[in-house]
Amino acid sequence: RKITVIGVPMWLGQTCFGTQLGPGAIRATGLNEYLQSTYFDVVDAGDLPFITQLSTETPVADGTIRNFEAVLQGTICLHEKISAIVANGRFPLILGGDHSIAIGSIAGIARHYHNLGVIWYDAHADSNTPETSPSGNIQGMPLAASLGFGHPRLTGIGGYRKKVKAENIVLLGVRDLDPGERLFIRDQGIKIFSPEDIYHKGIGSIIEETIAYLTKRCDGIHLSFDLDVIDPCEACGVGTPVADGVAMKNNLEAMSLLAQHNIITSAEFVELNPLLDKDGQTAAAASALIRTLLKN
Ligand code: ARG
Ligand code: MN
Ligand code: MN
Ligand code: MN
Repeated sequence: RKITVIGVPMWLGQTCFGTQLGPGAIRATGLNEYLQSTYFDVVDAGDLPFITQLSTETPVADGTIRNFEAVLQGTICLHEKISAIVANGRFPLILGGDHSIAIGSIAGIARHYHNLGVIWYDAHADSNTPETSPSGNIQGMPLAASLGFGHPRLTGIGGYRKKVKAENIVLLGVRDLDPGERLFIRDQGIKIFSPEDIYHKGIGSIIEETIAYLTKRCDGIHLSFDLDVIDPCEACGVGTPVADGVAMKNNLEAMSLLAQHNIITSAEFVELNPLLDKDGQTAAAASALIRTLLKN
């Protein structure tokens, strides 16, 4: 496999300073050295440059979106970069940054597929629109935006609106939904598994079901892995932790099964905030998940 690693030091999709340090903290686990010793062709494209200072657009009354211009510019820039990586036949491994960056990654990837599948592995569904968002944070909007719902300048990135189809998405590990998101997921008919489903059915059978469901139609599958899906006892370095998460043992097994089936064509690992982490446990978890996913 040909892999291009790219860091996206974005934090303006939410309010907690520190996710811009995520790419460096994951690299510091020795990820590149591991990948380079394992794969013939690994390039680290470095960090995506973009506007890092908090803009003058301020928080957030009804219907407005926090740091809109800055996040928009970041996602546009990422979209172009990722599209070029995929066009070159390379696997993009994207290190976040907060989850707003998924708008750019998916926009850049989806143009190269007819039926891009997305595994959204997250405590949250990130399916708010500006109208339903309780926070105004773009971090909570990327999946809705990728389906074509939200601010037209966000949904229009890349010059096309609908990046993925609802039937090509599977949500895994979700346990914190806002009221508007609940309706959205039901209306769109998006497949969703909670940590409780994983507990009852076992991660193996959930992943098998996910793979069978997506590979019926999809010609590529993007993994969008939000580290807050992990049980916070094992990964405290995230800005929006939610109790009763998915154990690392299960997350590693999930990555291992995805690797065995060799179906993932791009991946991002987002929401690491090293300033909230303890002894680097969340960075280490991210690194272990990536290594397992990219095995073979
Ligand atoms: N649902 C909340 C919101 O829209 C929280 C979203 C958290 N998202 C994340 N990527 N961690 O603000
Ligand atoms: Mn989340
Ligand atoms: Mn199998
Ligand atoms: Mn998320």
